[in-house]
Amino acid sequence: METKATTIRKVSPTRPEPEIISWAADILTKGGLVAFPTETVYGLGANGLDPNSVAGIYGAKGRPSDNPLILHVSHPDQVDKLSTLNKIAKQLMEKFWPGPLTLVLPKKPGIPAEVTGGLDTVAVRMPNHPVALALIGAAGVPVAAPSANRSGRPSPTTAEHVHTDLAGRIDAILDGGQAGMGVESTVLDLTSEIPIILRPGGVTFEQLQEFLDSVTIDPSVLGERLPENMAPRSPGMKYLHYAPSASLLLFEGKGEGKLRLITERAEKLMGQGLRVGILATEENAGRYPGEAIVLELGSSLSPEAAASVLFGRLRDFDRLKVDVILAEGLETRGMGLAVMNRLRRAAREVIGCS
Ligand code: TXA
Ligand code: MG
Repeated sequence: METKATTIRKVSPTRPEPEIISWAADILTKGGLVAFPTETVYGLGANGLDPNSVAGIYGAKGRPSDNPLILHVSHPDQVDKLSTLNKIAKQLMEKFWPGPLTLVLPKKPGIPAEVTGGLDTVAVRMPNHPVALALIGAAGVPVAAPSANRSGRPSPTTAEHVHTDLAGRIDAILDGGQAGMGVESTVLDLTSEIPIILRPGGVTFEQLQEFLDSVTIDPSVLGERLPENMAPRSPGMKYLHYAPSASLLLFEGKGEGKLRLITERAEKLMGQGLRVGILATEENAGRYPGEAIVLELGSSLSPEAAASVLFGRLRDFDRLKVDVILAEGLETRGMGLAVMNRLRRAAREVIGCS
């Protein structure tokens, strides 16, 4: 593909400068690609009603064209042109928007097939970030925006991550500092009888359970549970996602078993001359062999903190050129479900520990 000059501009994350916003909106209106911060991760935006602009997103990311995009709006009323809303959809929008909840709804005509991957549904979300809201508002159209990473890589939580992946492939990056939550929005499918979580994210299963009469989690979210001993990764989890360059081995389960198995594996791999990284909870970080490169995921009691640093840590391991990452799993409660979904999808192997 042709190389583009990618302009990075700093923007205030709380009071975005109107001049910078109208500059970026202008790029979108003319069919260009602009990366921008949201409260979850950075998005790569294009005019969501223009098929050519949207096609540009797939090209820049190297994304399979059958993986649909989220349309981002700056006001709930904008959804009326995109979908017919039932009562539950309206209530969810009222409760959780702006915020990290994406709703999959029946689509109205006029939405390019490039956005929906040819499906008869459309995903919509109103992000809770002043820069995102200002940009979408100024563009005056729904903005199609996947996470602004090369396909298969960890999602970007800083403008620098975006630059690493997409420099020369997109027109602009709005640098509004760190994206706060660190994992993407929850994707909730409202087109089946019972709402289904297709991807856990910033709004937790527990929050949705409290608000809805019924809600389920798609079985693909965590893949199959694996046996207690060292078992290979389930063949069902065939798509590596969010993956750093190094192989990631995920160790799950409560208690000391995890610490012991990771230590044993680290020593074995280092004995073979490999550079080993360990993604450790705060509680265990000081207890691993000194020659391993240990990065902290935060306390096992605070999955929110883990979510906010997760993708950055995976990218740090790449910069540190480790060959293998041994990662401690967390419990799947609250934001832990989103963290574990991303870790499982990044993992080459999941190891159950007792
Ligand atoms: O937090 C987020 O959601 C970020 C920021 C930028 O808003 N965006 C994001 O987009 O994560 P992306 O493209 O990386 O992930 C969108 C997810 C994908 O898993 C896609 O398959 C799913 O939403 N999706 C989009 N449209 C869908 C549809 N019509 N039906 C089912 N799943 C859909
Ligand atoms: Mg993504």
